[in-house]
Amino acid sequence: TRLEYFDETDSTNIRARKLAEEGAPHGTLVVADRQTAGKGRRGKSWVSPAGTGIWMSMVLRPAMSPMSASMLTLIAGLAVVRGVKESTGFEAMIKWPNDAVLNGKKICGILTEMSTEVECIRYVIPGIGINVNIDDFPEEIRATATSLKLEAGRSIKRSLVIAAVADSFEYYYDIFMKTCDMSGLRDDYNKALVNLNREVLVLDPRGQYKGKALGIDNEGSLLVRREDGNISAVISGEVSV
Ligand code: BTN
Repeated sequence: TRLEYFDETDSTNIRARKLAEEGAPHGTLVVADRQTAGKGRRGKSWVSPAGTGIWMSMVLRPAMSPMSASMLTLIAGLAVVRGVKESTGFEAMIKWPNDAVLNGKKICGILTEMSTEVECIRYVIPGIGINVNIDDFPEEIRATATSLKLEAGRSIKRSLVIAAVADSFEYYYDIFMKTCDMSGLRDDYNKALVNLNREVLVLDPRGQYKGKALGIDNEGSLLVRREDGNISAVISGEVSV
């Protein structure tokens, strides 16, 4: 693994994309102490103050279809849960598809970006943001976000968490590469899924509906039993608990 560390960058995802365009090899890890333009999903910004979080992105060059590559974001979520457990003892859970939550509040968000060319992957950039030593959040997210420090009541050494998450990612990536789908990881994933067997509200562009989350299938879609008894596979989008 090549490590690219920056005291400050706009966004590790943007930086990783530039490095990938310049030919950075598979496995390059981009870490920043502070992001001035951290990106969240759906065009939101991501709070990334200096010295308090893990802001990192990977450059991956897997030989697989874009459909398979899109599951790498689930692998990143699994890796965060396992890495956090190994380095801190905390049992975070996954909120589908890939947020990590601890005691019901978000500690990690993942933004995965891809570059494809005629159904081939050029590169995939999973970007991971973990709130480690943040003491306070902006008003708008105070009720829904937390940090490892707020939960533990003590500071956590970031380098240990980075190493454990990176190791865990490699562990799951190797299993994933055997089939290029979630078949070998589905059980682990569903065990970590906070939504499992719970009522969820699916925010589908074609209309919202309620149902019970049954876990993911081999393609990483969330299976939801709707109130009429039919089962839907939610491919992308949001679910709220
Ligand atoms: C979300 O909205 O939940 C996704 C947040 C992803 C944040 C991480 S921090 C490291 C990487 N660089 C970014 O600009 N975003 C991701």
